[in-house]
Amino acid sequence: MNLINLQVILTFLFLNTFRFVVSKQLSLTKLKGQNLIKKPFQKNLNLSSKNKLDLEIYSEALCPDCQQFILGSLQRALNSDIILDYLNIQIYFYGNAEEVLDPQTNLFSYRCQHGPKECEGNRVSNCIMNKINPIKKAIELIICLEEEIKRYAQIQMVNYDKILIKCYQKKKITNQELKRIIKCYSGEEGNILQHFAAQKTESQTELQFVPWILVNGKYDIQQYSAITKDLILFVCDYYKQNRSVKLPFCQQKEVLI
Ligand SMILES: *[C@@H]1O[C@H](CO)[C@@H](O)[C@H](O)[C@H]1NC(C)=O
Ligand SMILES: *[C@@H]1O[C@H](CO)[C@@H](O)[C@H](O)[C@H]1NC(C)=O
Repeated sequence: MNLINLQVILTFLFLNTFRFVVSKQLSLTKLKGQNLIKKPFQKNLNLSSKNKLDLEIYSEALCPDCQQFILGSLQRALNSDIILDYLNIQIYFYGNAEEVLDPQTNLFSYRCQHGPKECEGNRVSNCIMNKINPIKKAIELIICLEEEIKRYAQIQMVNYDKILIKCYQKKKITNQELKRIIKCYSGEEGNILQHFAAQKTESQTELQFVPWILVNGKYDIQQYSAITKDLILFVCDYYKQNRSVKLPFCQQKEVLI
């Protein structure tokens, strides 16, 4: 046995002893009186969609702060398999764009903050959000898309077909889903979905920048900074403060850190 293995085993033993001591203390406290522990660790709340914490995210395909949030805090949160049992997430891609209806084609045309490639990226992303289920899979594909966008040295060179094929090769989507997305964003449906995201964004009269994040329909600067820093921790704090519940992944995080 080499030294590293030994270290791993020792750490494991230490953590388990620690857990045992903690759980023993908890059960002793419990015997003395339920009130000493406000709420025990809860495994499965089984919340219906309307009872979950609700996040509405307004984003743009090429905005650096949006990319940082999606590839950082959001991606780390999705590493937890169960976070979406407690959280609804919806992302709309439009942000500070502008839309004009072309009366001849009856389609909208777009001008985007970071140029035409962003308009294209927004359309692809809105198609993904609408065409891929479950939501975890859709967001993971958005993450793959943003990772691949960042590999391009020049925005003008971004090729969304190639990017989607790469994400397909990385097994983020099936062949059928890939076709569904390409069909959506190269056709009228992509235009309509983009218009829907535009209307939804424009109804946010307070929106000042992107990403713009609403918690249960409201914007709050403190919640915003907590979410962009560490979404898991925010969800833990939210459930602890506002629902008096300690979620399973929060417990683990505290022990391990
Ligand atoms: C969760 O709740 C739904 C309906 O409220 C129910 O059908 C389902 O069986 C529950 N699942 C678990 C694991 O308790
Ligand atoms: C709990 O809810 C209140 C009122 O909606 C809110 O101000 C507060 O930020 C919430 N707590 C967390 C951690 O979000």
